[in-house]
Amino acid sequence: MAVPPAETTAQFAADVRYYLSLVPRQLPSKYFYDPLGSALFDAITHLPWYTLKRAETRLLDVYAHGIFEAANPTTLVELGPGSGEKLLTLITAGGHARTPLDVRLVDISRAALVRATATLHARSAARVTTYEETYDAGLERLVREERGAGRTLVMFLGSNIGNFDPPGVDAFLRTVRAALGQSGTLLLGTDLVKPEPDLLRAYDDPLGVTAAFNKNLLVRINRELDGDFDVAACAHRAIWNAEAARIEMHLVSRTSQQVGIRGAGFVLQLEAGESIWTESSYKYQPADVQAVLAGAGFRVRAQWIDERDLFALTLAEADGSR
Ligand code: AVI
Repeated sequence: MAVPPAETTAQFAADVRYYLSLVPRQLPSKYFYDPLGSALFDAITHLPWYTLKRAETRLLDVYAHGIFEAANPTTLVELGPGSGEKLLTLITAGGHARTPLDVRLVDISRAALVRATATLHARSAARVTTYEETYDAGLERLVREERGAGRTLVMFLGSNIGNFDPPGVDAFLRTVRAALGQSGTLLLGTDLVKPEPDLLRAYDDPLGVTAAFNKNLLVRINRELDGDFDVAACAHRAIWNAEAARIEMHLVSRTSQQVGIRGAGFVLQLEAGESIWTESSYKYQPADVQAVLAGAGFRVRAQWIDERDLFALTLAEADGSR
């Protein structure tokens, strides 16, 4: 396994110390995705109870042509492109499998960029540029390099926006809006509110894959920061917070444990029953998506929802009147 660069470990240590000191105790969900965490997330997307990815893929398969026609982009940007398959669906449906189209991929993970680029190069004529940086930095660079020419379609799919809290959503959408100028569009994928039992099964599955995904964060702290969490004494808990419209994932210590995290210079006293809040996954009503977009200066052009009301794809453009 690759050793993370020193500054990444320092940031991880600082975040672990800071977030575990908060009340309630927390850990940022972005740290789930070490190699094992990424593999477990991939497994989650295959679980029968986790409909998010399959619903989005079906929507894209059916509506990609209409989406491409509506956006009519000269440049496609995907924030967090994953395997590159969704981008490929859109490019192919837009009739660009054999004609070159500018594609920019933004991700902090080099492995993800390499994988998505390989997918696109193997099956399309896309001219791919990769930005190995955060979404904000990637969008800033896009503004510098594009200088307002052409029509850019920014894709933010997989309901990744669901892991942002409401102020984070607003800030993120405003950054995208500023990067797009007047002639660009945003394609946003959002998981929709469902009956509570369905939501709980999606985040507390009978095979225990999501539990392993959650607990792996402690395994990662033990390994990378020389910690001694008793992982076996920690239970995975998923809660539907209806008021906030979010699934919360927690890790609950069954026993009282004193956890040394030497790499973070920190000792944590966890009481029996005490929990660490590791993730929020916000779910949307279709109208909520329109409202958050409008609040950040967008106008919705179209929204596509599957027949089971599982997922929404929303295409929005800058609201010229604002
Ligand atoms: C990446 N993200 C959209 C996933 C979600 O559903 O919030 C992460 C995840 N957490 C538990 N299962 C999947």
